[in-house]
Amino acid sequence: MKKVFSGIQPSGVIHLGNYLGAIKQWVELQDEADQAVFCIVDLHAITVPQDPKTLKQNILSVAALYLAAGIDPNKSIIFVQSSRPEHAELAWILNTVTKMGELSRMTQFKDKSQKTSIESASVGLFDYPVLMAADILLYGTTHVPVGEDQKQHVELARDLALRFNSRYGTTFTVPEPLIRRESARIMGLDDPAKKMSKSAQSALNYIAILDDAETIANKIKRAVTDSESEIKVGAEKPAITNLLNIFAEVSDQSVAEIEQEFQGKNYGQFKKSLAEAIVAYLKPIQEKYDKIIQDEDSLKKILEDGSRRAKILAEKTLLDVKEKIGLGL
Ligand code: TYM
Repeated sequence: MKKVFSGIQPSGVIHLGNYLGAIKQWVELQDEADQAVFCIVDLHAITVPQDPKTLKQNILSVAALYLAAGIDPNKSIIFVQSSRPEHAELAWILNTVTKMGELSRMTQFKDKSQKTSIESASVGLFDYPVLMAADILLYGTTHVPVGEDQKQHVELARDLALRFNSRYGTTFTVPEPLIRRESARIMGLDDPAKKMSKSAQSALNYIAILDDAETIANKIKRAVTDSESEIKVGAEKPAITNLLNIFAEVSDQSVAEIEQEFQGKNYGQFKKSLAEAIVAYLKPIQEKYDKIIQDEDSLKKILEDGSRRAKILAEKTLLDVKEKIGLGL
């Protein structure tokens, strides 16, 4: 049985990295999986401060993007994490089998807490990977399609599943990450040494899925390039390598074909074609999004239905967990 689970935080603009690293493969997986569950992880979003009104809007916006991208509620369960209390409850239980040392080694916590300081980072931010493990383990997940940055978190979910199973008897399926090699790590347009990120200081870091044609052209025009003018992948050319990878992902061409096409041409010509390819790729998604987001009632209905379907699966796992531990009457 192939059971897929993944999620995105409604904590800012969804960008091309999220799309190519995660959502793109979800759409393909929902057809081959026996069970596909896609969550809008709002409880993760509040591990850093969020404006309540914006958060509410972002939740619906991410849901609309899932649908616009081709996640089909007839094939997949789509729901909002906070609508299912089982997530927070299982996270608490998993906290009791998680070691402080394990969480201290999570690179994302180190990165995010360094932005302020460990002293002022929330306990929720520290505990974030345990909630993510709960998300995954509640649904008997076998595969977790994510970008490279989430690999360590999925590995923690594996470790916690194995530890719980050996302590209390087989309860959880041990999940594995599914990472697409070509789009595992889309880098920032303003700094190819860092990943494209929702929390980037500058909007020049990312292409948002909802950016209009003019904005996309401008951001690509201003994207950092490398010293030589050749349009070719290479370890010493991280900026052009990233742009070539993006180009290949949004067109039906391989990197080699694109290199060939732009042999002897300059960065300006390359960037113009790249911007056009991104605009054409995002256009149908944006058009669908615009329609979906206007019909809030239908969108909420889909999420409520998803939550009901998630409940059946999540409740069953949680009951089993409590039984194994000896909780309750
Ligand atoms: P989040 O919201 O940061 O990112 C959502 C998805 O996008 C991927 N991603 C990228 N892929 C390639 N290049 C990039 N630059 C890039 N930036 C982001 C992420 O790897 C992710 O797949 N903790 C998770 C959300 C989560 C989750 C889960 C995921 C909560 N529970 C359970 C899977 C299963 C997160 O913060 O993703």
